[in-house]
Amino acid sequence: MADLLEQLWPVIVGHARRNNAPGFFGYVCGAGLPTDPPMAALAAALNQNVTGFASAPGATVVERRLLQWLCQLAGLKAAADGVLLSGGSLANFTALATALHTAAGDDPAIAQEGLAAVQARLRVYLAPTAHFSNARAVKLAGLGRRHIVAIPVAADGRIDVDALTSQLREDKRAGLMPAAVVATAGSTTQGLVDPLARIAELCRDEGVWLHVDAAYGGAALLAPDLRGRLAGIEAANSITLDLHKWFYMGFDASAVLFAEPHRARDVFYTSAEYVDIERDPPPERHAFFHYGPETSRRFRALGPFVALCHYGRETLAANISHNAACARYLAGLVEAADDLQLIAQPDLSICCFRWCGRGYDRGAIDRMNQQIQQRLLAEGSYYLSPTTIAGRPVLRVCVQGHQTNADTMDGLVATIQKHAYACCLPRSTP
Ligand SMILES: Cc1ncc(COP(=O)(O)O)c(C=O)c1O
Repeated sequence: MADLLEQLWPVIVGHARRNNAPGFFGYVCGAGLPTDPPMAALAAALNQNVTGFASAPGATVVERRLLQWLCQLAGLKAAADGVLLSGGSLANFTALATALHTAAGDDPAIAQEGLAAVQARLRVYLAPTAHFSNARAVKLAGLGRRHIVAIPVAADGRIDVDALTSQLREDKRAGLMPAAVVATAGSTTQGLVDPLARIAELCRDEGVWLHVDAAYGGAALLAPDLRGRLAGIEAANSITLDLHKWFYMGFDASAVLFAEPHRARDVFYTSAEYVDIERDPPPERHAFFHYGPETSRRFRALGPFVALCHYGRETLAANISHNAACARYLAGLVEAADDLQLIAQPDLSICCFRWCGRGYDRGAIDRMNQQIQQRLLAEGSYYLSPTTIAGRPVLRVCVQGHQTNADTMDGLVATIQKHAYACCLPRSTP
């Protein structure tokens, strides 16, 4: 074992990405918490198969408690419930599969033919800012591109609710079946929060399922200064919340929450003689595989549950608020610099901007921004993941660590400027 680990160490430790470093700003990726490693070890030692109460009673109680707390955090009513899954992608799939089957209804033709019976009429509404896993979920549900309606976004990048209203009404008049609208609370590139309250009102009036993908931004519900931005989320039919993102908890843990969990049960319920738990009394009857696509599952709830109890809501909230404050501080630095251009004020903890030194054409500026990001990565100082807005490269900083502070932001801006002038351009260039 010692020899094996010695051989593996340079690969698995030496080449591990340091997600918790103060200068790690890539993708949306939580830093992890010190409570994670011992709890991961304990969960592994217990080796529970958390299909439900019958196979893992203690773990099931812990997971259900955690899910109840998340439902309360999102402001869902008492009947709400959910299930932990591996990530936001699977959570979005679970929610949209439920929405599509709910829209299709439960007449015998549907039971016989599945979604195929009404497929031609089904529609799912996605903005360009929706995470790719939502379109993929529609595909996995057996639908194609024509079943996805692109929701227009306003100039600020958020869903244009008036345009969505007209589109939904027009499609209903044309005999189509709008099955779900996906709104995002914290888009992956910019952290934009769609106008959830207005979208929720529209969906309620039109009888359309609202899925809120809050995989990243849902953690803002903890922070009193940010929570208001997610107003309306409590009226969603389903919500994705990734604990392994801005809740800081270790991989992998995501929750899909349902306002009416029986809708998910109608889709995922399966019976077989080897899982005949229907005759058992509650809580023995509870099985997570009736609410999502997984059957065998690890004890995902332990780390998050212990972290919540140990650090407490206030500590996590203070970190989340601090991350958002850092993003706003960075936005201020960008606005004050002659050679940087802010794309938009951050809604949450993502700040996007562009180096745009004077005297360079658009193509040169685009190349420079790509090079700056690559140079930061190569020197190992700051980790920014590549992305574009409106087809043009931007520098995207997603603040998600506990050690990041204003000094980190000052250092980042200075390093970007250093690379822009001293490294990427010929020295004679002004
Ligand atoms: C808004 C949003 N939804 C869903 C996902 C997918 O989450 P996961 O990587 O946990 O599957 C992401 C990932 O970044 C995301 O930002």
